[in-house]
Amino acid sequence: MLACKTQGEGNPLVFLHAFPLSSAMWKKEIEIFSAQFKVIAPDLPGFGQSARPADSVAAMASEVASLLDHLQITKPVILAGLSMGGYAALEFYRQFPSRVRGLGLFATRATPDTPEAKQKRMLSIEAIEKFGIDPFARKIVKSQLGKTTQDSNPALIEQVTSMMKEAKPESAIAALRAMADRRDNTDILGQIKFPVLVVAGQEDEIAPAEEMRKMNGQIPGSEFHAVAESGHLVNLEQPAVFHGLLNSFLNRFQ
Ligand code: MLT
Repeated sequence: MLACKTQGEGNPLVFLHAFPLSSAMWKKEIEIFSAQFKVIAPDLPGFGQSARPADSVAAMASEVASLLDHLQITKPVILAGLSMGGYAALEFYRQFPSRVRGLGLFATRATPDTPEAKQKRMLSIEAIEKFGIDPFARKIVKSQLGKTTQDSNPALIEQVTSMMKEAKPESAIAALRAMADRRDNTDILGQIKFPVLVVAGQEDEIAPAEEMRKMNGQIPGSEFHAVAESGHLVNLEQPAVFHGLLNSFLNRFQ
């Protein structure tokens, strides 16, 4: 069973984390939104306190479903995911459409990896195998945090780097393989009939805002925001703006 943090009572709100992080990235969201919701933040397979890595994004999604079963969450959830968490959230919706009543898609995409992206992941796997997780964490933190953060928030760079260094090499490698092999979920976007919040960081080079705007156009009635002075980790880089957007979105479910 996946490890998770749960806090609060009420309608279930699930947060799925980015790569190679853990539920620790949702610390503030757990604090804030547990005042109104039953917040559930799993450690995806192999990360945080969850022991066994998964070999596909589809398996990550089914493990989240098993966790909800275990927690006896039978009603549909609001599911929010950032980047890899967003891939897993879309997969969850594909596999269990009746278990979702709202989606938050942050710094993510529905399209699969391009051949170049897959190639890059294979190089990352080789680097982790050879040199371990620390140099990998120091390298990728540069692409995960936007220019504004890089120039002005050394404490956040440090905090994110240490969270990344917690990742077990075998889990990071398994997740890189899983993401490289993930399917195209573009086909399900047009079927979504509940509220969806799409948030991009204007300085994000991993999930560029323009691509996310395109995805938003494919989801009927979804709302889109591109957050200024933020890279990929938008909830950590611009927490006040992010929480404001999420709060207004969640008001629709009260
Ligand atoms: C993440 O933040 O989860 C990763 O950047 C996702 C990816 O590598 O595609």
